[in-house]
Amino acid sequence: MIKHLRSAADLDAATATLILDTAAEMAALAGREVKKLPTLRGRTVVNLFYEDSTRTRISFEAAAKRLSADVINFSAKGSSVSKGESLKDTALTLQAMGADAVVIRHSASGAPHRLASWVDGSVINAGDGTHEHPTQALLDAYTMRSRLGRLDGLKVAIVGDVLHSRVARSNVLLLSTLGAQVTLVGPPTLIPVDIAAALEPKTKVSYDLDSVLPDMDVVMMLRVQTERMQDSYFPSAREYSRRYGLDLARMRKLPEHAIVMHPGPMNRGMEITPEVADSSRSTIVEQVANGVSARMAVLYLLLGGKA
Ligand code: NCD
Repeated sequence: MIKHLRSAADLDAATATLILDTAAEMAALAGREVKKLPTLRGRTVVNLFYEDSTRTRISFEAAAKRLSADVINFSAKGSSVSKGESLKDTALTLQAMGADAVVIRHSASGAPHRLASWVDGSVINAGDGTHEHPTQALLDAYTMRSRLGRLDGLKVAIVGDVLHSRVARSNVLLLSTLGAQVTLVGPPTLIPVDIAAALEPKTKVSYDLDSVLPDMDVVMMLRVQTERMQDSYFPSAREYSRRYGLDLARMRKLPEHAIVMHPGPMNRGMEITPEVADSSRSTIVEQVANGVSARMAVLYLLLGGKA
């Protein structure tokens, strides 16, 4: 088993599949009255969040607690980070406290890689800048597999603000490893020319959402990340929705069995309409539930659990 999960590229097909299978076992636990396993009793998991998060932070906390680990939640606000303490000094503090795993979210791409060189425990990337978010890719793959029965040969469109999306990057890597065919869709300004080839040569690119929909098994909508935009990448929100937003009329172009995904948080009315987000094809709430199982599997396996 790998020690750290910094990138979806850390996972080969066998390891990724083992994590998904373990997540399925963990999901069975969620149906029980007592949702707890003694597996990580006595181990310490630190959640180190330098950037805002709702789903991911709560999900990692729930996952660690369901495995009976001791959980320390650290958020940059209200800590010595606001006094200017560096990531390295924070890491040395965690090291002194004996953290077995550190889950980190940081606005700087690459922060988990640096952290891994300063602490002895496992480092899990919970989102670093515009770089990667590997556990999101795992929970997304888990959701696709449980809804559609397979990943190999699946056709997946990832739509929207690819440029700023760590979710897109990790999904392209993991889905390709697991045999799915990814098409990136969005305005040319939000799909860097060389991104597809650099990430994974088999990845396709399209600027025309309407033409790709009839052929897809999965359409994953991305949030337009205005907080990361210094320039203007499209004429207006309205123009963006008109070309790349998923509304009911567009959703009907998908094959009958296809599912609609979104990692959250959503800009309802921009990249996705409320009718689509709340429809029976949407797996958005399911993705959140699956996130806990996927993260339990990651913590369990990285901290030395057996399959
Ligand atoms: C994403 C993130 O923070 O990278 N959300 C998430 O983790 N569920 C995507 C986003 O912020 O748009």
